Amino acid sequence: MFERKITDRITVRLTVPQFAQGLFDVLDKNRANLAKWLIQTPQIKTVNEMGETIIGELRKFAVGQGLHQTIFYEGRVAGAAGFNMIDTKNNVAYIFIWLDEAYRGKGIAKACWQDLIALGFQYFPINKIQGECIPSNESSAALLTKFGFKKEGVLRDILKRNNEHLDHAVYGLLRSEYVAQQNTQAR
Ligand SMILES: CC(C)(COP(=O)(O)OP(=O)(O)OC[C@H]1O[C@@H](n2cnc3c(N)ncnc32)[C@H](O)[C@@H]1OP(=O)(O)O)[C@@H](O)C(=O)NCCC(=O)NCCS
Repeated sequence: MFERKITDRITVRLTVPQFAQGLFDVLDKNRANLAKWLIQTPQIKTVNEMGETIIGELRKFAVGQGLHQTIFYEGRVAGAAGFNMIDTKNNVAYIFIWLDEAYRGKGIAKACWQDLIALGFQYFPINKIQGECIPSNESSAALLTKFGFKKEGVLRDILKRNNEHLDHAVYGLLRSEYVAQQNTQAR
């Protein structure tokens, strides 16, 4: 399948319907945890719905409006990462990642995002990558900050989960900032 080898243990593959069962199993096992941090993914309730979601993601990929990758760690599905939307009018990609709790703290997220951010700026005509998280999501905030994303603000009561309204912190990385990072690292 179409894949990128990130390390000896980590591979990411373009998500295809054949991965529906594996992704669903990981999502289902982590549903309670993921529901704390994500809004849409935990709403997938069956393998069929996962399959339909994947087809939708592939349609977006086909027209340059998204990228959904499945993360494999030592050959097992460990989560997903990509751009859940690419706004082609304004040249902004919206980055995401989620991992099985059993695979967190191993540097998988860092390794996958390093590759994804490079791929994003190389292959898509984007000027900015935006990341968003619930403000109490320390892991996500740490990850975004590590890659030089700047916190741009907090949108208040912008999401609704059950009957609760939630804030979202917004982070951005501009192409010019990414290029400057790369130039500094190359020196
Ligand atoms: C966000 C998530 C993918 C991070 O996974 P992870 O396995 O902790 O990531 P990594 O091991 O690659 O760690 C990334 C870095 O963030 C740091 N970090 C992780 N959690 C942290 C926390 N709670 N506080 C401070 N730093 C933290 C790590 O120490 C690491 O930095 P280092 O290499 O300098 O030590 C994972 O927690 C997850 O799936 N959460 C649920 C879904 C989610 O919140 N997705 C993001 C929503 S936008």
